[in-house]
Amino acid sequence: MLSRREHQGATTLQHLWWLYVISESALTQSRVFYGKVGPMPLLRSLFIALSANRPLRRFCEHSAVGTRLSSRFVAGMEMEDALRVAEAVNRQGMAVTLDSLGESVTSEAEAHKSAEVYHHLLDSIAARKLNANISVKLTQMGLEVSPQLAETIAGNLTEHAAELHNFVRIDMEGSPLTQVTLDIVRRLHALPRLRTAIGIVIQAYLYRSQADIEQLLADGIRVRLCKGAYKEPAEVAFPLKADVDQNFIRLSCMLLDSPVYHALATHDEAMIDAAKAFANQNGIDPSRFEFQMLYGVRRDLQRRLVREGYNVRVYVPFGREWYPYFMRRLAERPANLLFLARNFFRF
Ligand code: FDA
Repeated sequence: MLSRREHQGATTLQHLWWLYVISESALTQSRVFYGKVGPMPLLRSLFIALSANRPLRRFCEHSAVGTRLSSRFVAGMEMEDALRVAEAVNRQGMAVTLDSLGESVTSEAEAHKSAEVYHHLLDSIAARKLNANISVKLTQMGLEVSPQLAETIAGNLTEHAAELHNFVRIDMEGSPLTQVTLDIVRRLHALPRLRTAIGIVIQAYLYRSQADIEQLLADGIRVRLCKGAYKEPAEVAFPLKADVDQNFIRLSCMLLDSPVYHALATHDEAMIDAAKAFANQNGIDPSRFEFQMLYGVRRDLQRRLVREGYNVRVYVPFGREWYPYFMRRLAERPANLLFLARNFFRF
């Protein structure tokens, strides 16, 4: 028997599923009339908009149904769940980056509380001798409360990581935060004791990314390149997937060509094949870079790359604040909703 809350959750998900069916058929019609229009842009926008819906978020994060559904992309609600997953991923020959879910905190106390989880994670990684580092969002470290607060907290985390010979990857969020994120990472990286312990993420969908990468390469900062997961206006980001893909390949080649160890974060086989071909043609050894993928996405491809001798790192998120992350995963591939609904309702 489902409780009242669970019943409401199931109803919400059924509504979302119907929305999916209706939107997909609308999209099919639009393709018939207008040709290929890209990766279901209607649904992408819908899920990105829903990712900021606070009442739905509150409801989903507190419902047993939502929590069960989130387990497709989230390692668990507790740090211990994530550490267990990290051990299992390591046993399969892959490294891990751990993400304690949460973003956009609104007080200094919350920011310090979020940082405590990461300090504890760094100690646990060292104690268990895991092949893992951490991925951190600056809004979770108080960026929107005060950039100085976020810089201090990120600096302390990076100091701690450096002492343990570990590494902090600063995730990239929406474009209003790109410049401040770059500034903070560059300032922290400029401190000699932190040089090896901090890196950043660049999104191929932004027009500015090539110039940013040129600057980061000149500084010797480690970059994770991804396509970008936020809704951005055409003034700042390529609206067409084909242009994003082309830029991803161009930027991958720039990173592969540099002596610094960078990461290419994608599940797109065309991007991965292009990187492999460029590395091959230019005598770049696979040990000089890594591919990164999300927990629960394309496990087959992750394992194949390991068998082929490439370094692979899996991004493992955990925690109770899973909703925005989960919705961004649905936005990337709305067909996931159908997959989840099928499993859940046994259609
Ligand atoms: P694309 O979206 O074109 O998908 C290519 C193929 O991959 C799909 O056809 C499908 O087969 C598979 N696929 C992709 N997403 C899937 C999903 N959710 N479920 C199932 N299959 C899927 N973004 C950001 O803005 N800031 C950040 O800091 C990060 N960090 C980050 C770390 C890591 C390790 C990864 C892998 C990704 C990120 N991202 C990110 C997200 C990134 O920007 C992007 O949204 C996703 O990786 C999806 O883009 P792809 O490159 O996989 O290609």
